Amino acid sequence: MQRALANELKTHLNQKVLVKGWLNTIRSLGKINFLILRDRTGFIQITIESKEEFDKVKHLQPGSVLQIQGTVHEALACEYKVELIHPILDVLVPIQEVPPVEYYKPEIPSDLDFILDHRPISLRNRKIQAVFKIQAEITHAYRLFMHDQVHAVEYFAPNMIGASSEGGAEFFNVDYFGYTATLAQSSQLYKQIMVGVNERVFALMPFFRAEPSHTARHLSEGKQFEFEMGFFNHWHEILDVQEGCIKFIVNFIQKNCANELETLGNPLIKVPLHVPIPRISFKEAQQIYFERTQIDERHEPDLSPAAEKELCQYALEKFGTELVFVTDWKRSKRPFYSFPNENNPDLTNTFDLICAGTEITSGGQRRHTYASMVEGIIEKGMDPNNFQDYLSIFKYGMPPHGGFGMGLERLTMTLLRLKNIRETSLFPSDPKRIAGNRLRAKIFFGEENVRNEILRQLKKEDFHFSHLQHVETLSSEESSKQRGTKLEEGIKAIILRGKSSKKNYQFNIPAHLKLDMKSVTEHVKEKCEFEDPQVILERFGLKVGSIPPFGGLLNIDTYYDESIKNLDQVAFNCGLLSESIVMKAKDLTKLVDPIFGNFTKES
Ligand code: 4AD
Ligand code: MG
Repeated sequence: MQRALANELKTHLNQKVLVKGWLNTIRSLGKINFLILRDRTGFIQITIESKEEFDKVKHLQPGSVLQIQGTVHEALACEYKVELIHPILDVLVPIQEVPPVEYYKPEIPSDLDFILDHRPISLRNRKIQAVFKIQAEITHAYRLFMHDQVHAVEYFAPNMIGASSEGGAEFFNVDYFGYTATLAQSSQLYKQIMVGVNERVFALMPFFRAEPSHTARHLSEGKQFEFEMGFFNHWHEILDVQEGCIKFIVNFIQKNCANELETLGNPLIKVPLHVPIPRISFKEAQQIYFERTQIDERHEPDLSPAAEKELCQYALEKFGTELVFVTDWKRSKRPFYSFPNENNPDLTNTFDLICAGTEITSGGQRRHTYASMVEGIIEKGMDPNNFQDYLSIFKYGMPPHGGFGMGLERLTMTLLRLKNIRETSLFPSDPKRIAGNRLRAKIFFGEENVRNEILRQLKKEDFHFSHLQHVETLSSEESSKQRGTKLEEGIKAIILRGKSSKKNYQFNIPAHLKLDMKSVTEHVKEKCEFEDPQVILERFGLKVGSIPPFGGLLNIDTYYDESIKNLDQVAFNCGLLSESIVMKAKDLTKLVDPIFGNFTKES
């Protein structure tokens, strides 16, 4: 028998069908049991009356993979309008474990962080699935529009590149065979290069931004819809393309995602097709914000998030649309490639598109002569030598051109009125997460790993130090003899355990002094005791006596006695009883950046 999908069942009334999917929920009402099955198109209600059939599934958890034969029956009282009766159930993959997140409910009753902590499973939730189905359709619509209506050619640009494309400091470096490469902030340079080939080009490109801010609208990895065109009579033709594009996308979603929109409670923002998107200059925008709120940002070089929200409210009230273009931005705030305005060189021929209160696109006309582009690069404090490939196109002929970059996640978020951009990325990266997973401190375990990491850090900083090998030493006196250093230059690293928290702390003191446990208690706000050497060995792979004053490598809070600051040189074991490092105290404290305090008493 052919498999039937949830959304096809209405066409099979009173027929026998085979359905496949995941157990979503089971509900018992006396002798009748309702099993809800999830497949890629929706849910199916299976009404089970036979005890024998119910026994097959009654102990199973959501996620169990099932295949069921039954008869389709009209059920107007049921949410799905049909049900499957007289089912024969076949359990393909039984699941006994309770899922970590209640994805099978219409809405997961947890906060976003918890949902992201269980991302692979939470994606199965119907509402979350709907967001990403719509996102896929947005992308499809973008391609259709660019290909069929704008006649632009799709390009594929590199993501590991040699120089920053947007300037600023928001980029990631990667170690590329010993050279430093940059992860692309956008494919800006490449789309301009491709204008020299195909005039009109588009792409869907990943971008990487080292944005340290933890906001509801910034990701460190995302996708950008890129567009660039050559030859126009007026640079506002770029805005025309952007306007046609976003209206096409919204219309496409309305037509093709009715079910998903309904699942989400029909959140789509207002973008009437016949209403031109208002175009206001940056200066006008500031004035409108001032007049509507009495908040005066007219001397600021940028619009605040609050002003962006207010402008969209203004567009909604005045024109019935939630989109607004802001044009002619200050030169100081736009990237090096922005075309200076012919009448006022403090301004640029650039625009942002703001959607329901958030910037979704930046774009504009670009400088297109060699001399002008070099000027732009130098003006922003960058080195033209880092842009040779890119600069060559201006040497060999570029027409007036321009384009835009529209963030896929920002677009999805604003169109669907979602509160947080992380809801629009399958596996979001931000300062706290990478690909959905929480970042964990890097911990080093064992003698060799700890020693190698310390050596790596010292070499990287270019510090002067000596790395000594000697017989194993067990006391500070012995160590100083072996190293040929003074006893008070030796650093004793002591690992403590909090009596209530069970947390470890590392206290580092000069070897001739004793740890003052009273002062320790005051600092960590709990009573502490020495950690058991056996636990230290199991937990950190290190023997007592070999522990270096680098608690951070072991992921424990690190304290230094103030008196270490007064030393000139210091010596310590670097993870092994038979190896030591001698270096400047000031270099060590700079590298480790510990918490300082007075933790010692005379021994
Ligand atoms: O405004 P941006 O930085 O402009 C550019 O990248 C230019 N190359 C565009 C151009 O053609 N002149 O980025 C464009 C869009 C933003 O409006 C935003 O939608 C998205 O990309 N974007 C981000 N989205 C989420 N998190 C981030 N950290 C983003 N950075 C940019
Ligand atoms: Mg921008």
